[in-house]
Amino acid sequence: MENEQGNFESREIITMFPTFVWQTMIKKEIYQTLNKDIVDKLKLLRPSMPEIDHHSSWQSDSDLHKLAEFQLLIALVKEAAKGVFAFLKLSYEGFELTGCWANMNIAGSTHKIHSHPNNFLSGVYYVQTDEGADTINFHDPRIQTGIIRPPVTELSAENTDQVVVHVKDGMFLLFPSWLQHSVSANQSSQERISVSFNLMFSPYVETMSKPLW
Ligand SMILES: [Fe+2]
Repeated sequence: MENEQGNFESREIITMFPTFVWQTMIKKEIYQTLNKDIVDKLKLLRPSMPEIDHHSSWQSDSDLHKLAEFQLLIALVKEAAKGVFAFLKLSYEGFELTGCWANMNIAGSTHKIHSHPNNFLSGVYYVQTDEGADTINFHDPRIQTGIIRPPVTELSAENTDQVVVHVKDGMFLLFPSWLQHSVSANQSSQERISVSFNLMFSPYVETMSKPLW
């Protein structure tokens, strides 16, 4: 009996239904000013800057996209989102941010696993990251793969149930709103600051929700 390779003429792996996270880096000359402006505005939004308790976090209201100080960020988000829609070859007539909020996490604080229902795309913009506070975890959306999970000889993209993405100041991540994600404990001494947002197609009911059968 020949070995496996000897018995087969060829072998091919067909990848299907990929899950994308789009990573975009803003030019340094833009994000340095942008991030300083965001931090300054957040100081104003957090009344009298109360100390955040150890292991806890602070989240702003979810309408930052309506504030003048965030319009540059929103324009960049929309530009990045258009790139995603082009990549996916989507036909659409308009989209908008449905929510935008800031997150401040001090040392030790985490963000538990969640997704963002009733939106198409979600994302995060990173304002202040540091070593030990510079990752986000994405979780395998195919929950059925957790039923039988044999031990592996080496973790790989093909057998993992969680992908850790490294982030840095000035970076955007955009991902499908259904993709569950979480943030591990801040291991740095600095506050981790990010701005999250959701996007949805504006005229979805009028123009995009015809039955598919
Ligand atoms: Fe989130």
